[in-house]
Amino acid sequence: MTTPQTWPHLFEAGTAGSPVLLLLHGTGGDEHDLLPLADRLAPGAGYLAPRGPVQEHGMNRWFRRFGEGVFDVDDVVRRAAELAGFVERARSHYGFGDRQLVAVGFSNGANIALAMALLHPQAAPRTIAFSGMYPLEGRTIDADLSGTAVALFNGTSDAMAPIDSAIRVGSILESRGAEVDRNVREGGHGIHPTEVAGAAAWITSHTKKVRDD
Ligand code: MLT
Repeated sequence: MTTPQTWPHLFEAGTAGSPVLLLLHGTGGDEHDLLPLADRLAPGAGYLAPRGPVQEHGMNRWFRRFGEGVFDVDDVVRRAAELAGFVERARSHYGFGDRQLVAVGFSNGANIALAMALLHPQAAPRTIAFSGMYPLEGRTIDADLSGTAVALFNGTSDAMAPIDSAIRVGSILESRGAEVDRNVREGGHGIHPTEVAGAAAWITSHTKKVRDD
């Protein structure tokens, strides 16, 4: 079982009642990578930043793949369940109660965030995916996603996260009842400053401050 005691991660409580950002790095990153983004996305928010548990030639990832953009979908399913379990245990371990969790992922981190949004919406009902794509090729999604919201940020010429796949994940999320906010810019893989500003505004409008006593 993956517990907060055994899964390498960072946690910062942030101000009382603020959302908690679940920061999911890209391939080859670690739990420190997205920390500079946290304060720009939601000043004062808490964060939970785990390390991707899969190794690929010494690089941390969130699930196995057979090649660039060709995912081991069984592993995606398994790892999304593990991450959702970790989040729930961290919620009780750190006592962040009913504070809203916002998954924020980049690239491979966006893909595991989207898998979790599609398969385990209760773990993080708010998701921001920078340069993400559809991670569950060949699977039928039957979860009720009403009440969840996802913001997608993609580049039109992203060779690693093709725009068609990003459009597809948005349509599948919507077909199951999620609210989807699509943000498409010119360019390739990455996080642009305008996207950070857009994501920050999205967090403000899609989260509420709660009492956490
Ligand atoms: C990556 O290198 O992270 C890919 O573009 C996306 C993935 O493998 O999930």
